Amino acid sequence: MQTWRYGMILTIAAILAAGAHAARADSGADLFANQCGTCHTLSAKDQMLQGPNLGNVYGRKVGSVAGFAYTPDFTSANFVWDDKHLDAYLTNPTSVLADSYMQYQQPDAGIRAQIIAYLKQEAPLYAGGK
Ligand code: HEC
Repeated sequence: MQTWRYGMILTIAAILAAGAHAARADSGADLFANQCGTCHTLSAKDQMLQGPNLGNVYGRKVGSVAGFAYTPDFTSANFVWDDKHLDAYLTNPTSVLADSYMQYQQPDAGIRAQIIAYLKQEAPLYAGGK
């Protein structure tokens, strides 16, 4: 009886944890769609919008989408987009790349973290520019 009850509690805890995880993943996707989607697609196969595609941006070299007309600072910079660079760029783009003309700033660290986590999660799906 005792073991059965413990098993039930574990099962319920697992279901709740799975639900919370799904909710977090969804809100990352929603945040990306609402806050970045006007200017960025995920897939390189979609028509390019105002900005370059971002599906594999996490771990990608800065300014490296072929055919996108980046401003000069992007092509002379030499780093890979990771948590630190993305967080600074989304806070204030020109603090990372002085001539960036991306019209977006996100002062809320929690929202930035959710969007960055979403991009990190998606990156393997778009590896090699899919
Ligand atoms: C109003 C349009 C607009 C919005 C909204 C926008 N961006 Fe951008 N983004 C751009 C443009 C334009 C560039 C290229 C900037 C340049 O060349 O100066 C860019 C570049 C980038 C880059 C550099 C990519 C690379 O290949 O080096 C990242 C990363 C990025 N954006 C992330 C985001 C994220 C994440 C969001 C949403 C939270 C977002 N952007 C919202 C227009 C936008």
